[in-house]
Amino acid sequence: MKILEIEGNRNLSGTIRVSGAKNSCVALIPAAILSDEEVTICNVPELTDTDALCEILNVLNVDVNRASESIVIDTKNMKNAEIAEEYSKKLRASYYFMGALLGKYKKAVMYFPGGCSIGARPIDLHLKGFEALGAKVTNEKNKYTVETEELHGANIYLDFASVGATINIMLAAVKAKGRTVIDNAAKEPEIVNIATFLNNMGAKITGAGTSTIRIEGVEYLTKCFHEVIPDRIEAGTYIILGALCGNKLKIDNIIPEHLDSLLSKLEEVGVDLEVGQDYVTVSKADTYKPTTITTAVYPGFPTDLQQPFTVLLTQVSGKSKVVETIWENRFMHIPYLNSLGADITVKNQTATIFGPTKLKGTSVVATDLRAGAAMVVAGLLAEGKTTITNVEHILRGYEKIVEKLTDVGAKIESKEI
Ligand code: EPZ
Repeated sequence: MKILEIEGNRNLSGTIRVSGAKNSCVALIPAAILSDEEVTICNVPELTDTDALCEILNVLNVDVNRASESIVIDTKNMKNAEIAEEYSKKLRASYYFMGALLGKYKKAVMYFPGGCSIGARPIDLHLKGFEALGAKVTNEKNKYTVETEELHGANIYLDFASVGATINIMLAAVKAKGRTVIDNAAKEPEIVNIATFLNNMGAKITGAGTSTIRIEGVEYLTKCFHEVIPDRIEAGTYIILGALCGNKLKIDNIIPEHLDSLLSKLEEVGVDLEVGQDYVTVSKADTYKPTTITTAVYPGFPTDLQQPFTVLLTQVSGKSKVVETIWENRFMHIPYLNSLGADITVKNQTATIFGPTKLKGTSVVATDLRAGAAMVVAGLLAEGKTTITNVEHILRGYEKIVEKLTDVGAKIESKEI
């Protein structure tokens, strides 16, 4: 079993270079199979989630060539095949193969995806979108078959601006006959990154990044070269860490506009920030003011940063609140923060944080990816030794986390026990 051991309460300074965005990359890899030629994706992070998607490409007989930070995907020998549960359950993003295979072959057979247990995570909006495009969906236990003779454009209104459903419907619609309009589409930067990738291949998508996306179906998609955008959630996690332990800690290779909601909230709390064109430098201040954050779809405050932000709120003087509106089960980190010395209560979907409280190292669990990130941030802040188990959750989303943090002065070690 892998664990992380942290000796906390140290000042961190230097530069952390942010990697390519996990949540973009995990959609770009399945999207690549829609090309009829070879595509190259660069700035690909080395994460267990990207490895899991490459395993699925192997199942589909796709030629994959991985060099440092880039991946070349060639579909000339590709064959459509069922994606078994052992592959699909490794991560949520395996479901992007449903849209991509349906778009390419008019048929996808796969099992229900995995991912963090942060809520029920249904896929009804994805399936309704596929049906609107003309596909028939059948399912037996966890196995889904989505197929049709021909996909046709459709007007699709999403009941919720779901990131996954927006991307999956785009993937299914790029080669459909005619025009598809997705209304109440998600607007996250990752959606724009995927649409740009598809357009670079010759797709005709407009409006990505707004709530109405229009797709004119095309028959053939060409080769292209594409770059993964910087990971705004990794960046945000390290900026929050800088507000707690930083001494001019520079978070580099980022797009600050993607972090507007976080940066405004940090300023409101009193964090000392310098925002450059592609970096943020952050230092710890002596006192912080309380605030309330409410998670929302982009450009609202990202649910994926709520858990690390809660650690910062334990150091604020007074009562702060975190209201989670996206996921039903995203407060699993709270009991562990309390065991480190925080004073937090949870009622319904709201956490109330009373601060400031001194944190002291102990043994904690990474219950999901961002809860794990919160444990790392808390461990680096706490006095003494913090041991984190279930770290495989963290390694799904934070490339070279131990090396990056060690380079800026943290005492953190990954151990096999
Ligand atoms: C993406 O998940 C991200 N994952 C999540 O990041 C992120 O928390 C989430 O978007 C919101 O920003 C990936 O990109 C791989 P949704 P996704 O579909 O696409 C409900 C992380 O830590 N819903 O926007 O699964 C759903 O239950 C992860 O990196 C339906 O009801 O999120 C949730 O309440 C965790 N039916 C809400 O919509 C559906 O068919 C948002 O889900 C689809 C979603």
